[in-house]
Amino acid sequence: MEPTIAWQDGHVTALDQAALPHEVRVLRITTVDEMVEAIGRLAIRGAPVLGAAGALGVALAVRQGERDGWDGARLAAEIKRIAEARPTAVNLRREVGAAAAAIPLGAAAVEDLAVRKLEEAATASIRVSERGAAYLREACDAAPGPLRVHTHCNTGALACLGWGTALGVVRALHNAGVLSHVLVDETRPLLQGARLTCWELRQLGIEHYLVCDGAGPFMISQGMADAVVVGADRVAANGDVANKIGTYSLALAAHRAGIPFVVAVPESTIDSSTASGQAIPLERRREEEITVPAAPAGTRAVNYAFDITPAALVSAVVTEDRIILNGRWPS
Ligand code: MRU
Repeated sequence: MEPTIAWQDGHVTALDQAALPHEVRVLRITTVDEMVEAIGRLAIRGAPVLGAAGALGVALAVRQGERDGWDGARLAAEIKRIAEARPTAVNLRREVGAAAAAIPLGAAAVEDLAVRKLEEAATASIRVSERGAAYLREACDAAPGPLRVHTHCNTGALACLGWGTALGVVRALHNAGVLSHVLVDETRPLLQGARLTCWELRQLGIEHYLVCDGAGPFMISQGMADAVVVGADRVAANGDVANKIGTYSLALAAHRAGIPFVVAVPESTIDSSTASGQAIPLERRREEEITVPAAPAGTRAVNYAFDITPAALVSAVVTEDRIILNGRWPS
């Protein structure tokens, strides 16, 4: 498979995730405009990959600024556009900030830092995956057979590099021979579950079944999953979790059914400067993403891309370094 995102001879290459799975198209990104556009239309997406793209975007901006003779104010304005290309995933802002701080050291230093961020994201994802799988095996030790895991959106290599987070946990369970199958929410309206997660699971040879978003909570209530595992775009200081719209209803269902609801994230997704979920900016996208093609012309829509799951509904947040249980966050 082509790498999800990479730095190559002074520009960025990225798999166009908006075109998958029907077309495998590699984007060549050389300007800030192209990077902002690719992030905005979700050709580049998933919190850890957005972080990597942010750092690479700063490296691009520095090169473009040298080419086009930008002054400091223009460079800062272009970097701000990258940081604000999407609001919810804290990784984007965080890594843009880290790369921008390296600018006084020169273009090569920014590029080195951005490439290092890619490697760090891949390494962290494998550690999150193994830790999460070990936790789940313990938490589900009463399950009668191999584990049935419900997941939402896309959290594999496409979103994270390496193994992914929630999908990395699934992969580690599969490698250990203790996974039965995965239930994959289609993830309306942009279908990251149907398009991307099913594509990745198929390549990995992991048994999976696609389900409508609305079916998930009901299927959980019927005992059809042993655990729910998801990623996140931001975890607030109190443990509240922002993730793809539809996550909250799975958490409620898991809570009621008494099965683990696990959030797998790199430490870079934890935002200790945001007190609670109420303060996390939630992206609202174009109405047409929902209304076209089914609704009558002129129908209005409210298109939240993310929701907040309160810490009290989260059994565990698993990172590469630690496991935080039952919303017990250090105050
Ligand atoms: O809108 P997207 O596709 O960028 O949303 C992605 C998600 O919600 C993922 O669950 C999240 O970024 C975690 S990726 C490990």
